[in-house]
Amino acid sequence: MKSNFDKAAETYDENAVVQFDSSMLLASLCKNTIKEKPKTILDVGCGTGFTTLAIQKLYKTAKCTLCDISENMINVAKSKEELKACEYIVCNAENYDFDEYDLIISNLAFQWFDDLKTFLQKMLSKCKYLAFSILTEESFKDYAKLFKINNINIWGYKYIFSENFLKNLEKQSNVLEFYRKSYRIGFKSAFEAAKHFKNIGGYNSDLQDGSKNEIVSILKSYRGFMFLDYNLALVILEGKKSN
Ligand SMILES: C[S@@+](CC[C@H](N)C(=O)[O-])C[C@H]1O[C@@H](n2cnc3c(N)ncnc32)[C@H](O)[C@@H]1O
Repeated sequence: MKSNFDKAAETYDENAVVQFDSSMLLASLCKNTIKEKPKTILDVGCGTGFTTLAIQKLYKTAKCTLCDISENMINVAKSKEELKACEYIVCNAENYDFDEYDLIISNLAFQWFDDLKTFLQKMLSKCKYLAFSILTEESFKDYAKLFKINNINIWGYKYIFSENFLKNLEKQSNVLEFYRKSYRIGFKSAFEAAKHFKNIGGYNSDLQDGSKNEIVSILKSYRGFMFLDYNLALVILEGKKSN
C-alpha cells in the first residue's frame, strides 16, 4: 500500500478533487462542533497536506504535526510554503507511539488501516477530539461491479465504514458529529476511472501479474461512461483527554 501512495505523490494534488473538498468539509465540521481552539493538531495519513492546510486556516496559531507512511507524500507536503513550519513524522501510524494532541484529524486514510478499532482506541486516549472521514460501503459500486465475477480485490484497502462500525464507536466514545456526504465524478471510460485511482494511489499494489492483465482486459472491454461514487462518513469523537 505504501508503494502506491509513493508512486502517486506527484500526481495526487491535481486528481484528488474529492479529498480536497472533504478536507475543507471536515475542517468546517470541526469549527462548528469543537468549542475551544485546539493548540496542537495531528493529521494522520496527511498525504500532501490538504487537511492540515484547511484546518490551519481556522486555527492559525496551532502547532501542526503531519504523519504519513509514504515519504514521497510527506515530501510534497513539506514543499508547500504554508506547511513549512509544521512537524513531520514518516511512520505507519498503527505502530507509532504518538504524543498527546488537542485535536487529531484524518481525511480518507483510515480505510487503509489493518486494525482501525485498536488504532482508534489508542488515539482516543491521546486527544481531546478526533475528527475523521472514511469511505462507506456504498462507494464505487458501478466500478466494483466490473470485477465482481472475477473475484479480484481491486482496492486493497481493509476497512470501510458501516452502520455496525458507528454502533461500536458509540460504545467507545461520545460521538459529537456524524455527517454523510456523496460525490459523483464521471469519466469517459472505465479505463479513465482506473487512471484516476492510479493517480491518487487508490488501488491494490499487491496484485499478481495475472490479475493485473485480467483487470486491463475488463477495463478495455467496458464501453461508455463510468461514474465513481465516493460516499463518505465524517465523524467527530470526544477523546479521553477532554476534561
Ligand atoms: C487517500 S490518501 C488521503 C491523504 C490526505 N489525508 C488527503 O486528504 O488528501 C490516504 C493517505 O493515508 C496514508 N496512509 C495509509 N495508511 C497509513 C498508515 N498506516 N499510517 C500512516 N499513513 C497511512 C497514505 O500513505 C496516503 O497518503
